This record gives sequence, C-alpha cells and structure tokens, in this order.
Amino acid sequence: TLINVEPFLTLIENRDDLALQLKEKYSLKDIFVVRGDADHNSLVKEELVRLMAGELTANLLNGTIVSVAGGSTMALVSKFLKPKHDNLLFIPARGGLGEDVALQANSIVSRLAEATSGEHRMLYAPDSISKASLELLKEEPMVREIIDLNKRSSLVIHGIGDALQMASRRNVTPDVISKLENDNAVGEVFGFYFDADGNVVHKVDTIGLQLADLKNKDSIFAVAGGDGKKEAVKAYLKLAPENTILFIDEVIAEHLLG
Ligand code: BG6
Repeated sequence: TLINVEPFLTLIENRDDLALQLKEKYSLKDIFVVRGDADHNSLVKEELVRLMAGELTANLLNGTIVSVAGGSTMALVSKFLKPKHDNLLFIPARGGLGEDVALQANSIVSRLAEATSGEHRMLYAPDSISKASLELLKEEPMVREIIDLNKRSSLVIHGIGDALQMASRRNVTPDVISKLENDNAVGEVFGFYFDADGNVVHKVDTIGLQLADLKNKDSIFAVAGGDGKKEAVKAYLKLAPENTILFIDEVIAEHLLG
C-alpha cells in the first residue's frame, strides 16, 4: 500500500514568502514562518520549536548563558537540542509566575541542561509574596546570582501568550483580571502584560529579566503559534527590540500583514 505523505510535508513546510514580506514590514533580526495554525495542529507548534532550536544551536558558543522563560512552547525545546557545545548555562528568566511545575522555567532549564550536557541554575522566588519579602530575597546570594546571570546572558528564549488566557492559567486574583480587562491587555511575555499599542499595563512582581534588558542581548528567540495569539504577537512587536528573532505560524503571519 502506498502511504500518501504529501499532506504531512505540506503542513510543516516553511512559508518563506510570508517571512520575506514580514521582514519588509517589521525591523527584526529574522522571522520564520511555519505553515498552518498551531491551535488546530500540534505538529505546527513542534515545527516552530524545532526551527527555533536549530537557530538557537547555530547561535550557541561554548559557555553561552541562555535566559529561559516558561510555558508549554518552551517546554518542548529540550526535545530538539543536542550536546554540541561545552559549558552551556541555562537560567530561568524570572521567578515563579504561577505556572504548573512542568511549565515553570525552573523545570525547563533543568531539561535543557540535561539535553545539552550543560548546566542550569534554579531560581526559588515565589510570585505571591509581599514586596518586603521580595526585596529581602533579592539579597540572598543564590537569588543575586540569577539576577546577575540574567544581566550577563547573551541569548533569551521565550514564548508569547494571550493576556487573559495566561492570567487565567496562572490563577491570578479577580482584581488583576479586572485590571487587565480595564487596561485592554492583549498579550504577555514573561510576566509583563501589555495592550495593543505595546504599553505595559501590568507586571508580575517577581525577580529576574526585565523588558529593558532585552536590547542588550545578542539575540532573543520569541516563539508563538495559533490564532488565539495573533493579537498578542502583533502587540508584542510594538515593544520587541530589533535583536528579536521571531518564529510564528501562518495564521499569525497573515494577521501581521493584514
Ligand atoms: C512563556 C512566557 O515563555 O510563554 C510567557 O514566559 C508566555 O510569558 C508563554 O505567555 C506562552 O505560553 P505557552 O504555553 O503558550 O507557550
């Protein structure tokens, strides 16, 4: 029997034509577009992450420090990395954001280190403690180290989320939800919530990478797929620095061009 693999191959093919049009419109370091809609086919998300892992590998050197955000997209990255460099160090970009443990940056960095025979550090900083305790925590040597490493890292990898979806996944309080609704938050990256114009309207009080740090990095690898994230990605591009490498699917790419 002949198995028709064609639909499969078409599905994961890259859309270089869309990427080219987007590069004319947005000044980013690079843009990759995968065919399809990640909300309807999980292979699309895998393909986005596989592509990103390939580009990330090409940018790694011995001893590179990588700041890593959480989420289900980042949780797939370790699947596609191999031990090709020495002394890689993966660090959580920020402290607890209220995610399930498997989706927390702490878990993801440990898997990335295992996949690459590299190292990782954990950041034990819960997201719902008082400002005073947070300030005290920042003085702890182990926490200080992560803060410093996030300043020194040359690469960042992160996902992009829809604001209200992320807030409800993280079980934030009803007053935060109303604040996000009132301020028209549409997107979220590592604890920063922003509106359609790219203004930050809310930020989770935790430790680590700040949006202002991004412009000092060599490259930022941002990955998002699925129709439900199209407004979030469009808004994020208003605040993403030019050293961003964007990995999106066709459904988001078309929205960005529209
Ligand atoms: C994370 C970011 O990397 O990905 C979040 O820290 C973002 O801020 C999230 O919203 C998206 O999550 P997911 O599960 O859709 O990959």
